[in-house]
Amino acid sequence: MAIAVSPPAVLPPDDRVAGSREVAISWQYQHVGTDVGGDIPGSETLVATAVELAGRATHWPGMTRPAQRRWELMAATSTVEAWVIAWPPGGAIELHDHGDSAGAVAVAAGELVETNIVSSASGGVVLRTTTIPTNGSISFAGRHIHDIVNLGPVPAISVHVYAPRLTSMTYYRVVEGALEARSTIRYRFGEVVP
Ligand SMILES: [Fe+2]
Repeated sequence: MAIAVSPPAVLPPDDRVAGSREVAISWQYQHVGTDVGGDIPGSETLVATAVELAGRATHWPGMTRPAQRRWELMAATSTVEAWVIAWPPGGAIELHDHGDSAGAVAVAAGELVETNIVSSASGGVVLRTTTIPTNGSISFAGRHIHDIVNLGPVPAISVHVYAPRLTSMTYYRVVEGALEARSTIRYRFGEVVP
């Protein structure tokens, strides 16, 4: 069943690095197999959607040789949104969560390293690092906190799918072994709101 692509809202999921804001969505996304309707899909569907879109991500305009990390909204429904992100070598996003949204990441080219940070019972933090190779994927529940970096020698391209649609991202730092929130950016339908 076809799912309508949202209006060409192409503001980035965070505003700390300038991305392309001018390329309108040009592809009609036909979701294959599952009508997600108004329901929030589970992690398997999020991963399947990310993997499916990763097959198109390497052809997304402007993503193959990024001078800096950049992103575009690939597709969205009322409950799901998918972003393609290009990472130059060394490109990274700092520790952040995705509010109440669950998510999935599929790597279409190159390799990314995710570090997930969780609070320990003792009040400190525990780090879990996962390498996501080309064609690899991960999924996570709401309130997942991670950073992602391209440590490889070549650019990477990934697809990030969120459900429900992103309403906030909070950025964190680790201070004396404890997580500390430092800023929150709020979103509505892919655009930053005050
Ligand atoms: Fe993230």
